[in-house]
Amino acid sequence: MSLNLSPEELLTTTRAVRKRLDLSKPVEREVIEECVRIALQAPTASNVQGYHFMIVTDPKIRAEVGKLYRKGAEGYFSSDLGRQKQAGDPKSRSSRVRDSALYLVENIDKVPVLVIPCYKARPDDLPYAVQASIWLSVVPAAWSFALAARARGLGTAITTFHLQFEEETAKLLGIPYEEVMQAALMPLAYTKGNEFRPAARKETSSVIHWDRW
Ligand SMILES: Cc1cc2nc3c(=O)[nH]c(=O)nc-3n(C[C@H](O)[C@H](O)[C@H](O)COP(=O)(O)O)c2cc1C
Repeated sequence: MSLNLSPEELLTTTRAVRKRLDLSKPVEREVIEECVRIALQAPTASNVQGYHFMIVTDPKIRAEVGKLYRKGAEGYFSSDLGRQKQAGDPKSRSSRVRDSALYLVENIDKVPVLVIPCYKARPDDLPYAVQASIWLSVVPAAWSFALAARARGLGTAITTFHLQFEEETAKLLGIPYEEVMQAALMPLAYTKGNEFRPAARKETSSVIHWDRW
């Protein structure tokens, strides 16, 4: 299925989808493969193409990954940063994001597909510029995957809670931890409805620095 979105519609309406993931509808393997094929067009440093996509569909394994995601989320929500975000007006954007993030925490194992974009490198302890090259070789591919999914009526979100237990996740899924980093965990499902709007963001002029910061 293609939603026939214009490039601008696609780029401005690919949201972090959590509550509107359709947990009851299976996702076809071919659709996931198509999204990966498109994601592989993203650039990588020196064209190394070290990306890998761990796709978890087995309900028993999803449940195990879900446990680690929840454990990571618990750490976040009990931290100072998490508590700060919890304070304030329940209608505020940050309260809504928190509510939505908690929904995903509760339902992570019910999402039909969990996608973990990986890269064959470990950035730990490397010089900053090398770390940047590694991260920027996997992040564009992960985002292209999200865009390709949205174009086909699927939703996802970039999440990082499980990375606090990256090594345990690697062990669980047979990812060679010493050689391969996990960049995120992206829940993937068809969305309930296809209408998504551009989000409120900062004024363009507040983030552009012409010639000098
Ligand atoms: C680096 C990064 C880490 C994130 N980690 C999580 C996460 O662990 N759990 C979650 O529910 N959302 C996570 N998000 C999603 C953000 O909360 C989301 O981008 C934000 O809600 C804005 O959504 P919008 O683009 O739909 O406006 C993460 C996003 C990024 C870019």
